[in-house]
This record gives sequence, C-alpha cells and structure tokens, in this order.
Amino acid sequence: MPQAYVRRSAVGETPRWDLLDWSDPQDRPELLELLYGGGSVLVQHDGEPLLGRARGSRTGASITSMSTVMSLTASLLEELGLGPGKRVLDVGTGTGVTAAVACQVCGDGSVVTLDRDRPLTEAAAVRLADLGFRPTVACGPGEEGFPDRAPYDRIFVSYAVEHVPAALVDQLARGGRLLVHVTTASPSWPALAVVERTLDGQFRAELRAGGFAHCAGHGLERILLTEEFRSHLASEPGTWTQQSTLALPADTDRGFWVAADHLLGGSLVRDFAAEHLVIGAPSCGSWLRVEPAGHRRWNVTVRGPRDIWKELQDLAALWRAVGSPDRYRLLFAPDGGQRAASECGRLSWQLLEPPLPYEGAIL
Ligand SMILES: C[S@@+](CC[C@H](N)C(=O)[O-])C[C@H]1O[C@@H](n2cnc3c(N)ncnc32)[C@H](O)[C@@H]1O
Repeated sequence: MPQAYVRRSAVGETPRWDLLDWSDPQDRPELLELLYGGGSVLVQHDGEPLLGRARGSRTGASITSMSTVMSLTASLLEELGLGPGKRVLDVGTGTGVTAAVACQVCGDGSVVTLDRDRPLTEAAAVRLADLGFRPTVACGPGEEGFPDRAPYDRIFVSYAVEHVPAALVDQLARGGRLLVHVTTASPSWPALAVVERTLDGQFRAELRAGGFAHCAGHGLERILLTEEFRSHLASEPGTWTQQSTLALPADTDRGFWVAADHLLGGSLVRDFAAEHLVIGAPSCGSWLRVEPAGHRRWNVTVRGPRDIWKELQDLAALWRAVGSPDRYRLLFAPDGGQRAASECGRLSWQLLEPPLPYEGAIL
C-alpha cells in the first residue's frame, strides 16, 4: 500500500487525518509503522477515488475504508483453509490484502474479489496487477455474491452482517466453507458464522463468539457510548445502587456476551473506553455500571426503564445452565429465517432479517 491515513485529532475534536505517501521520504518511517504495526490501515476518506491522490491533510467527513486488523485477518484466513486451485470469493475487497493472499495461495485465476465501492475496486485491481495478480475484480453488493463464477470452495466476507446472506450460502460448492461476521445494531460483541457444505450437499453451520470489533479503531461512535451518553452517566445518579457478590461472566466468556447482544434487545453498547464494566442502552437511556468494591464484591448501579443488571444476571444463569457455550448451532429455516441455538436448544435466538437496502457494518 503506497498510501495510508493517520488520524491526527482526538475523539471529540473535528476529525483530521494526514494521508502519508511512500514517495515522500519524510512519510516513510510513519507509513512503515502503520503498515507493519498490526492495526487497521485507513485507506479511503469520504468515498474519494484512490488513484492519483495527493498526500496531505483531510478534515471532516469520515474514513470510508480500511483493512481489517492484520492478526484477525491472518487467523480468519487460516480458518478459511485456502489451498491451491480452490475457487475463492473474497467479499469486501478493501485494500486488497485478503485478495492478494488468496491469489498467492490459490492462484489468481480462481479468485473473485468483490466490493460495493468502485474507487476501491479500481485501485485494488491496479495494486494487485502491480504484484502480478489478476483476479476477477468486481463492483457490487456483497450480499448478492458473484453468481457468474459460482460455485466457490471458499467465501470470505470481511465486513459484518446481521444475517448470513442467502445468496452466498447458495453459491457455496460442495465441500465448501463460508466465513462471515454476524453482529447486531451494536457491534460490541460480534460472532463468526462458519457455514460448511458437505460433499453430499447438506449445510452445517455454527455461530462462534469472536473478537471485539472495537480493535479496528473505527466507527467509535457506534462502538463506544457517545460523549453525550457518557456525560449523563457521569452526572446522573442511578435508579439504584447495591453491593453484589454475584459476578457477571468475564469479558473472555464471549459466548455469553454474544447471546446477550442478540437476546437483550440487540441495542446494548459496551463502553470499552470505560475503566470498569459500563453498558448502555442508547435507545432508552438505561445504563449499568459495575465497579469492584473489595474481594469478590462489586458496586452495581443501574438507571433507566431497563434493569440491565437483572437482565444480564437472568441470562447468565441460563447460559451457565446450558454449559456456558462459546459457540451455537446456526439453523437455516426453509422460509429464510436463521436461528442460533445451544446444543440442547434451551438458549436460542432468531437472527435479524436484513434491512433493505442492506448496509454492512465495517469490522
Ligand atoms: C474491512 S474492509 C475489507 C478488508 C479487506 N478484505 C482487506 O484486505 O483490506 C471492508 C470492505 O467491505 C466493503 N463493504 C462493506 N459493506 C459492503 C457490502 N454490503 N457489499 C460489498 N462490499 C462491502 C467496504 O467497502 C470495505 O472496503
């Protein structure tokens, strides 16, 4: 990547970024640090064309494309199980990193990479060709896949959806595997849907609790509670405060938090910037704060029409009763409905139907 943005403004200030460019020796150390630092690399501001851009500052609007965090990309590509000759559909071209890896491993003749953003696909096609790769680069909605070259042995989606796109499942070859992140209106606790088609044509799918989306460092207002919500939280007294010896499942018990995200209204936002556990429900103004108060004791404060503490404790009891799962079966109904369920089926929920037109959340 010969160019990348670095953010210069703090959260809450008018956003400002500098576009660094490899052709300027002054930019090189910082650009190298960005590219090899393991974080998400920001590549597009406000939907701009990528080819022929001048280095320098940009203010306002937002970053509209970036790479996925590299460690997440690497572990997902391993999970995908690429191999020579596999037919691959890479959905969400972005910087073209995943497409380049797929071309290198599988051979570029069997790779299709698809993104809804034309400037991104144009730039990716040029960059991939510079590296000697000529996959099919297509522009269009990822949810429709690319039927012209179906079926695919591997399908990889690098943005999050609320519902596994049916067209992508249809385009999966026998023996194939599809990976896509599933989230709700709040991307606090994403899950990874792994869909496999057996050699006799049956579908087997599961939903695994995944890494936190906030690693990407983008879309903070959707991941953290807003400034305004946090100032309410700091100044308002709770509806009640009590000391509790009951702990909630830990952050690492992701299977619980995925279930909470879907079952408790799908609108809970975990404030990962807060020092202790803070969860808000911006749609109704309710919030929960849990602070340590000595050995195995916590001060719990809640406010608002929802008692988020009770909701979470009740769900935690059910989650523990069904064996504290970190993955769920994903069931596809003939009418298109999709349901996640624990092995015994006592803990289950329906995935959201996709809104129209579909807007993918960026991971
Ligand atoms: C995190 S980036 C992709 C990372 C990429 N695989 C890489 O190697 O850098 C997500 C990409 O998905 C694209 N995208 C988001 N929603 C989409 C949709 N509904 N259809 C097609 N592309 C979409 C965005 O334009 C963006 O380029």
